[in-house]
Amino acid sequence: MNNQTMTYDYTVVRQFAIATVVLGIVGMLVGVFIASQMAWPVLNFDTPWLSFGRLRPLHTNAVVFGFGGSALFATSYYVVQRTCHTKLFAPALAQFTFIGWMLVILSAVITLPLGYTSSKEYAELEWPIDLLITVVWVSYAVVFFGTIAKRRVKHIYVANWFFGSFIITVAMLHIVNSAVLPVSFLKSYSVYSGVQDAMVQWWYGHNAVGFFLTAGFLGIMYYFIPKQAERPVYSYRLSVVHFWALSFTYIWAGPHHLHYTALPDWTQSLGMAFSLILLAPSWGGMINGIMTLSGAWEKLRSDPILKFLIVSVSFYGMSTFEGPMMAIKTVNALSHYTDWTIGHVHSGALGWVAMVSIGAMYFLIPKLFDTEIYSKKLIETHFWIATIGIVLYITSMWISGIMQGLMWRAINSDGTLTYSFVESVQAMHPFYIVRAGGGLLFLTGMLIMAYNLTKTIAQGKAIHAPIPEPQAAH
Ligand code: HEM
Ligand code: HEM
Repeated sequence: MNNQTMTYDYTVVRQFAIATVVLGIVGMLVGVFIASQMAWPVLNFDTPWLSFGRLRPLHTNAVVFGFGGSALFATSYYVVQRTCHTKLFAPALAQFTFIGWMLVILSAVITLPLGYTSSKEYAELEWPIDLLITVVWVSYAVVFFGTIAKRRVKHIYVANWFFGSFIITVAMLHIVNSAVLPVSFLKSYSVYSGVQDAMVQWWYGHNAVGFFLTAGFLGIMYYFIPKQAERPVYSYRLSVVHFWALSFTYIWAGPHHLHYTALPDWTQSLGMAFSLILLAPSWGGMINGIMTLSGAWEKLRSDPILKFLIVSVSFYGMSTFEGPMMAIKTVNALSHYTDWTIGHVHSGALGWVAMVSIGAMYFLIPKLFDTEIYSKKLIETHFWIATIGIVLYITSMWISGIMQGLMWRAINSDGTLTYSFVESVQAMHPFYIVRAGGGLLFLTGMLIMAYNLTKTIAQGKAIHAPIPEPQAAH
C-alpha cells in the first residue's frame, strides 16, 4: 500500500487531550473546594451533596480517572501509533472508549455527590458503572494491543511496554477488586469480607498507584522527554531493567497501607520489605529520565515544556523516596492517618502525574492541530505558578502531618494525653489555609493553560499526519 495516503488517526487523541485539560480543571476545582472546606467547615453549607465526605471521592475520581485517565488514553493512542508506524487498530472501538470513559466520569459526577458508593477508596463507583469500566477497558486493550500487533517496525519501543503493563494490570485489579453481590441497582456488597476485603482493596489501591499513576505515566516520560529534548533515552538497557523490576516489585507492596491492622504481621513486613526494594527501580527510572538531558542541560533554561517534564521526574524521585520511608513500620506509626500521607500523595499526584501530563499536552496539542503554541511565555508563567503551588501544598502538609502525629502521641508523665484531639485540629488550621492557597495557584496555572491551548487550537487546524516509511524516524 502507498504510505503517502496513510495517516495516523488523531481524532480520538485530540478528544482525550482536550478532555485532559477540561477534567483537570473540574477535578482540581473540586480539590480547591474540599481543601477550603477543611480550612473553613462552614463551606459544607449543611447540604449533604456539598459535604466534604461526598465531594472528596468526586475529587479523587475526577483527577485520577478523569484527568489522569484522559492523559493516558491520549498519549498512549498517540505514542503507540507513532512508534509502530501504523494507524490505530479498530478506530471505531477507540472512539467508543472515548464516549464510554466520558460516560464513566459523568456517572461519577452524578452518583458520588448523591451518596452512592461502594466505600472502597478509588473504587467507589457502583456495580453498573464498574461493568461499563470493564467494557471500556477491554476495548482499550483490544485497540492498544491490536495496534502493536499490526506494527510496521519490528521493535516495540519501551514506552509501549509501560503502557501495555498499565492496561493489563489495571484490568486485573479492577475485575478482582470490584467483585460484588448486587442487592439493588445502585447498591452492592463486596464478595470478600473482613481482613481479606481490606487486603484485596489495598492490593488494588497500591497497584492503582503503581500501574495507573506510575507505569502509565512512565510511558509518557519515555516518549515525551526524548522527543522534547531531541536526545535518545539515556540508557535503553536501564529502561528494560526498570520495566521488569518495577512491574515485579510493585505488586507485592500493598500491605504497607495496612500496617498495625488485623492483617497478619508477616504480610505487613513483606509489604514493607518490597516497598524498600521499590526504591531501586523507581530511582533507576528517574535517573534514566533526567539523564536523557545529559549534554543538553542548557535546554532547560529556555524550554518551559522541558521544565515541566524534568521537574515532574524530580518529584517522581522525591515521592518514591518518601514512599519507602513511610512504609517502614515505625515511620508509618507516626505518618499514618496524618496529613503527611496527603502531602506524599500530592507530591506524586501534582508533582509527578499532573506536571508530566501538562508537559505532554503542551507538546501534543500544537502537533495535533498542526500549529505552534500560542504563547511560550504563558507556559513559563504556568510552570512557575504550578511549582510554587505544589511546594506550598506539600510543605504545609508535611509540617501539619508531622505535628499531628507528634501531638497525638504526646503523653504526660502520668500517662494521660498531652493534647486533646480538638487542640490538634486547631493547630492544623493555618496549614489548611496555606494548602488551599497552593491548590488555588495550581488551579490558576491550569486556567492559564486552558487559555493558551484554546488560542493554539483556534489558530491551527485538525490534521492527520502522514505515516512515514518503516525505516524513517518516528
Ligand atoms: C488543585 C489541586 C488539588 C487540590 C487543592 C487537592 C486537594 C485535595 C484535598 C483537600 C484532599 C483531601 C485530603 C484529606 O482528606 O485530608 C485530596 C485528596 C486526594 N487527592 Fe487531591 N488535590 C489536588 C489535585 C490532585 C491531583 C491532580 C490528583 C491526582 C492526579 C489528586 C489526587 C488525590 C488523591 C489520590 C487523594 C486521596 C488521598 C488519600 O486518601 O490519602 N489531587 N486532594
Ligand atoms: C516507591 C514508591 C512508593 C512507595 C513505596 C509508596 C508508599 C506509600 C506509603 C507507605 C503510603 C502510606 C500508607 C498509609 O500509611 O496508609 C502511601 C500512600 C499513598 N501513596 Fe505512595 N508510595 C510510593 C509512590 C507513590 C507515587 C509515585 C504516588 C502517586 C503518583 C503515590 C500515591 C499514594 C497515594 C494516593 C497514597 C494514599 C493512599 C490512601 O491511603 O488513600 N505513591 N504510599
